[in-house]
Amino acid sequence: MNQILILDFGSQYTQLIARRLRQLKVYCEILPYSTNIAEIAAKDLKGIILSGGPSSIYAKDAPKADPKIFELNLPILGICYGMQLISHECQGKVIKSKKREYGFSLLKTSRLCRVPSKGAMPIRRPKKSRIFKGVPEKIKVWMSHGDEVKKMPDGFKKSASTSDIKIAALENEQKNIYALQFHPEVHHTDYGLKILGNFARGICLYKDQWSPSSFLNETIADIKKDVKNDSVICGLSGGVDSSVASILVSKAIGKKLYCIFVDTGLLRVGDKERMRAVFNKKYKFNLKIVDASKLFLSRLKGVSSPERKRKIIGKTFIEVFEKESKKIKNAEFLLQGTLYPDIIESVSVKGPSAVIKSHHNVGGLPKKMNLKLIEPLKFLFKDEVRDLGRSLKMPEEILMQHPFPGPGLAIRIIGDITQARINILKKADKIMRDEIKKFGWYDKIWQAFCVLLPVKSVGVMGDERSYENTLAVRCVESVDGMTADWSKLPYELMQKISSRIVSEVKGINRIVYDITSKPPSTIEWE
Ligand code: XMP
Repeated sequence: MNQILILDFGSQYTQLIARRLRQLKVYCEILPYSTNIAEIAAKDLKGIILSGGPSSIYAKDAPKADPKIFELNLPILGICYGMQLISHECQGKVIKSKKREYGFSLLKTSRLCRVPSKGAMPIRRPKKSRIFKGVPEKIKVWMSHGDEVKKMPDGFKKSASTSDIKIAALENEQKNIYALQFHPEVHHTDYGLKILGNFARGICLYKDQWSPSSFLNETIADIKKDVKNDSVICGLSGGVDSSVASILVSKAIGKKLYCIFVDTGLLRVGDKERMRAVFNKKYKFNLKIVDASKLFLSRLKGVSSPERKRKIIGKTFIEVFEKESKKIKNAEFLLQGTLYPDIIESVSVKGPSAVIKSHHNVGGLPKKMNLKLIEPLKFLFKDEVRDLGRSLKMPEEILMQHPFPGPGLAIRIIGDITQARINILKKADKIMRDEIKKFGWYDKIWQAFCVLLPVKSVGVMGDERSYENTLAVRCVESVDGMTADWSKLPYELMQKISSRIVSEVKGINRIVYDITSKPPSTIEWE
C-alpha cells in the first residue's frame, strides 16, 4: 500500500506524527530507526519522516538510520533529532545549544533564493519554502531540544529561524530533503497539520485519500481466504477493540466465529446484559457467556496486593477461556483486537515511546494454545477503530464507552475483595455513571469510576452515628491514557452523585473526589 514511513528515534511524539498523517488521510507506518534498508526499500513508499528522539547526535550510542535511506530518491523530512541527523549525515555541524529550548518559540520563516523574473531588470524575489506553503511568516511552534544545527551541509538552505536559534528549518530542494527543529505534530504548533500536509501531499505527492475503512474489503477477503472452513475463537470483552474486531470478522466468516465472554464477577451492573442484548440478540453471534464468578472470588480471597490480584485474574481467565475453547470444533484461529500502538511499542527503540504496559495484558492468551492469530485492527489507532465501527454501523454506546480494565472492579476495591464489597461498589458505580450520562458529561470524560477504600469514618445518618466506608470518585480527561488530568465536573453534578450514593448505597457514608493528574498518579488506584 502507498505510504509514508516514519522512522522512530524514540520521541514521545512519534505516534503523534502518525496520527496527524492519518488525520490527513495519508497512510503511514512506524518502524524502528534500525530497520534494515532492504525492508525499507521493499515498501511502496512516497516519503520518509525521521522522528525526534531523546539522544544527542554526538552521544556514543546515538541512534542512526542506514545512510542508504538518502540514496532511495525519496523525499525525507527530519523532525528535531531527525534534523540533526540529516545535518550530521550530510556533513553539516551540530552543536549543543547554549540554552535548552523547551516550550513555545516564535518561528520566522525565511525566503530561500532568487527567482529570475521575465522583466528587463532581474529583481530579487526570494522564494518561500514548499514546506511552509500557506503558512504565515511568523508562527508559534513547540520546541524541545538541547542541540542545534550550527553549519548547514553543502547545498542546503535555511528556511526558518527563531530568536534563540538561527537555523530552525533547512532544506535541499533538489534532493527533496527537509528538516524542522520544532515539532509540527504537536497540537500547540500553529499550522502543524498544514506543514505535515505540505510534506505529504505537496512534496511526497501522496495522492490517495486513505481511511480506516479503505482496507475493509481487502481484510474481509483475506480473512475468508485464510479461515476457509475452520473456526475462529474470540475472547469478547465487549470493549471497543474486541467488539469492532469481532463484528468485522463476522462479516467475513459469519457463524464460524465463536465468541467467549468470561463473567469474572468483577463486572459493572449491566455489562453482561448488554453483551446479551448486542451480541446475542442484535448480531446473533455464537456467544457463550461463562459464569466463573465463584471461581474468581474464591481465588482472590484474602488477596490485597494489586499485582497478585492481576496475576490471579489473568491466570484464571486463561484457564476458563482455554477450557471453554476446547469445546469448539475445528478451532484454528484466535481473534485479537490488537491495536497499532501495541505493536509499535513492542518494536520501538528505548525511550519514552517504548513504554510497554505489560501489566495491562490481562487476558493475553498463551502461545501454547497453538492457534493462529487474526489481528485485523493491528494497523489502526483507537479513534480509527471507532471510525471503522461507525462504518460497520455499530451502536455508539459500544464505540464511545469508557475503557474498563481487564481485572475489572478487583483493582477498584483497595484491599481484600469480598462479595459484599463488590456489591457496594457496583451500586455506587452505577449511580455515578447514570448521573454523569444524565448531565451530558459522559463523552467529555475519558474514564469515570469509583474506588472503594479500606477506610471507615464516622458520620451521622438521621439521629444515629454511622461508621462506614469511604468511596473515592475519579473522573479523568485524557487522549490516550498515558497522561491524564482530573475532570472539573460541575459542582451540581458532584453534589448529585454524592447525595445519591450516600443515601442509596448502604455501607458508604463519605465520598471524596480525586484531584490528581497522571503523572504523578495513575488513572486507576491499584
Ligand atoms: P493507569 O492506571 O496505568 O491506567 O494510569 C491507564 C489505562 O489502562 C487501564 N488499566 C488497565 N487495563 N488491565 C487493563 O486491561 C489492567 O490491568 C489495567 N490497569 C490499568 C486504565 O483503566 C486506564 O484506562
